[in-house]
Amino acid sequence: MLMVIVLLVMVVGSLLFHFIAPWHALPLASNWRDMDQTLTITFVITGIFFVVLNGFLAYTVLRFRRGKVQGAAYQPTNHKLERWLTIVTAVFIAALLAPGLSVYADYVRPPSHAMEVEVLGNQWQWRYRFPGPDGKLGRSDARFISPSNAFGLDPDDANGNDDPLIESNELRLPQDRPIKMLLRSIDVLHDFYVPQFRARMNMVPGQISSFWFTPTKAGRYEAMCAQLCGVGHANMRGAVVVEPAPAFEAWVKAQPSRSAPAQAAAGDAASPVALGMALAKSKACVACHSVDGSASVGPSWKGLFGKTEAFADGSQAKVDQAFLIHEIKEPQARVVKGFPPVMPKSELSEAELAALVAYIESLAK
Ligand code: CUA
Repeated sequence: MLMVIVLLVMVVGSLLFHFIAPWHALPLASNWRDMDQTLTITFVITGIFFVVLNGFLAYTVLRFRRGKVQGAAYQPTNHKLERWLTIVTAVFIAALLAPGLSVYADYVRPPSHAMEVEVLGNQWQWRYRFPGPDGKLGRSDARFISPSNAFGLDPDDANGNDDPLIESNELRLPQDRPIKMLLRSIDVLHDFYVPQFRARMNMVPGQISSFWFTPTKAGRYEAMCAQLCGVGHANMRGAVVVEPAPAFEAWVKAQPSRSAPAQAAAGDAASPVALGMALAKSKACVACHSVDGSASVGPSWKGLFGKTEAFADGSQAKVDQAFLIHEIKEPQARVVKGFPPVMPKSELSEAELAALVAYIESLAK
């Protein structure tokens, strides 16, 4: 009898939780209403089965409980019942799968006038690339990646010369225009996900995956990584700003490209510290190193410079410029005590390295 009560409480409690819990999907901001409908269909079918099966279980426990009936009949096979169950189950499974397959077919078949946008993921940051005025994305390959070529653009492909390169985790997109997202990863599995767009896709090293969507509401949305990709996974966040087409056009036109690199002159004007601070953001150092002393994946940079750091092997060293350069260049060579050996190597030029170290030094006090 207790079992019957437990089953009924579980069913009623689950239904109540569904209807009165405060958690709901974020408001839809893309064309993919079909995704929501598919989820609803799945939810209704599995919900009905959940209630019916648990109700049936409660009923049989109650009806055939000990003392109520004398022994149960042993019936190892019942072909008629099995056939019937197989057919009914098959129909419902097909009803579950069919809408998803049909929506997925649309999801990976973009309209011909969709604008291409490349998303590049690595531990633990996002970068983006647009086709330039020529409308063509230049070829790229992981083997071309270097400090001066973070996107791995093929030097022999002129189509890549005018591609706007966004070395920041913030992407902007025009409202009401179909976007074809091309996803690349240069290290491990990531997944680009914006909940309000109802759109996501795995990013698999060595291949380009794609989907499309049309952002329908202006606003700022959080983009997050939806595959566990290492200790910095939770900090692999970005943003997608959807804005009216003219604002987007003005923004994208102002972005650097291979033929019009970011104002190198700014390097002369800006102090190394300011440059280092920008690098810490664009290279995603701040995903693992806080600058305010709070605990994170790696040691905080606040007050780091000048202190004596202990290593896992028991040795010690004073944090100075040489120390930092060594750690950034060879993050796995010596591991600071109390932290996991997870820091990836970054592609940094000597000037960038100096700027980053200057920035960390500036956080000493
Ligand atoms: Cu990238 Cu999780």
